[in-house]
Amino acid sequence: MRKLIYHVAASLDGFIAHEDHIVEGFLNEGDHATEYLESLKNDYDTVLMGRKTYDFGLQFGVTNPYPWLKQYVFSSRQDITEPNISVISSDPSEFVTRLKAETGKSIYLCGGATLATTLLENHLIDEILVKINPVLFGTGIGLTRALPAFLALELKSCKTYANGVLLVHHIVKPKLNA
Ligand SMILES: NC(=O)c1ccc[n+]([C@@H]2O[C@H](COP(=O)([O-])OP(=O)(O)OC[C@H]3O[C@@H](n4cnc5c(N)ncnc54)[C@H](OP(=O)(O)O)[C@@H]3O)[C@@H](O)[C@H]2O)c1
Repeated sequence: MRKLIYHVAASLDGFIAHEDHIVEGFLNEGDHATEYLESLKNDYDTVLMGRKTYDFGLQFGVTNPYPWLKQYVFSSRQDITEPNISVISSDPSEFVTRLKAETGKSIYLCGGATLATTLLENHLIDEILVKINPVLFGTGIGLTRALPAFLALELKSCKTYANGVLLVHHIVKPKLNA
């Protein structure tokens, strides 16, 4: 069974974007950014995005954000015409369960919070990698939406970069009755 890894940037206070979906305040240059891009190239062969995450790139004309990966966007709408994107309108958890059973590299969960929450609720996310940026948003879109119960994590590693970014890597502990 291959892993699903939620790999995301956040403010120190735990927000992945501002409420209006503007993403500003994160550091985009430095060793953490270089290593992140290398990781996207080497560690994964598939990326999952919620519709609103995919829409974020559209405002900059980016229709094919990760061309070297197999790209899935979860949406009830069928208006994405980019041939390199597969739109999934069926139940995300059933789809991801099947995807994880296929052979291949780890699966990159790009975001956003809504999709991540569904997959966390169904115990499908194995690891969470957060690039904690030295910035406070005060409000915004959190790493997850409301969860029905807490999920215990185990710290795997924590790396500090010279620019103040921390890369914090957790394993999601299996549910107790699993
Ligand atoms: N900081 C970072 O590294 C990072 C990374 C990724 C995203 N983001 C930010 O996160 C924000 C988006 O997060 P978000 O939580 O608002 O939205 P999201 O999870 O990206 O997308 C939500 C949409 O995806 C579809 N979807 C997701 N889960 C579903 C489910 N369980 N069942 C059916 N459809 C589902 C639906 O699309 P339809 O409405 O079309 O049916 C839903 O409206 C953006 O601002 C983006 O820039 C930040």
